[in-house]
Amino acid sequence: MHVRRKLVAGNWKMNGSLDGLNEVIAIAEAAREASGVDVAICPPFTLIAPAGMRSAGGVRIGGQDVHHRASGAHTGCVSAAMLKEAGASLAIAGHSERRTDQHETDAEVRAKAEAGLAAGLDMIVCVGESDAQRRAGDHSAVVERQLAASLPDDIGGAELVVAYEPIWAIGTGNVATPADVAEMHAAIRAALVARYGDAGQHVRILYGGSVKADNAAELFAVADVDGALVGGASLTAAQFVPIIEAAARS
Ligand code: PGA
Repeated sequence: MHVRRKLVAGNWKMNGSLDGLNEVIAIAEAAREASGVDVAICPPFTLIAPAGMRSAGGVRIGGQDVHHRASGAHTGCVSAAMLKEAGASLAIAGHSERRTDQHETDAEVRAKAEAGLAAGLDMIVCVGESDAQRRAGDHSAVVERQLAASLPDDIGGAELVVAYEPIWAIGTGNVATPADVAEMHAAIRAALVARYGDAGQHVRILYGGSVKADNAAELFAVADVDGALVGGASLTAAQFVPIIEAAARS
């Protein structure tokens, strides 16, 4: 039996402002109370440093993306070392919005994950099928292909986390059913163990896609759901704290 602490990570996407950082303070207070749960907020790059200072260590702060190179002529990009200097201890790679908007490939996602881990950032690598792929019955094959090509071979250095985020569930209110989540998380666990051996048992697998206070407990009860990656409901303490509490009770 492998006991994995739950991780509840908020992805603020292109939302938030200095004025809104009171939410991080309230979230950090709740996170300190929620023993046994790791809590993170990934705000826009510009808010990483102030969010870290305002939350005073109560919550982990992460980046929503990272470049695979340490420095150089890459306008608009941010390296792992830069994220760390700003106070981040983790980062997301391969979110479906970046795979779509920035045309990121599995190979690029893998390079980002490798660079982040090597620099000591815990890396949340996202995978998930589209609505059309699920309707065609291709969801498992799509996710297995993404895992094979997006995850690094060497997962030493820092912690690898996988987030299963079906694209049709993100920002839509259409949460995946516990049965669908169970099927996919079991398949992801099997792929991780096949690839990494016993280390694959320690990789946390988050579910993401319309996680809210009223569905979190049901999702956290599913085997191999080791937490959640939360978008919209992570923007305010009022919505995010009940999800943290559900993780603490699970
Ligand atoms: P959502 O976003 O919770 O707003 O559906 C999840 C995500 O994109 O990580």
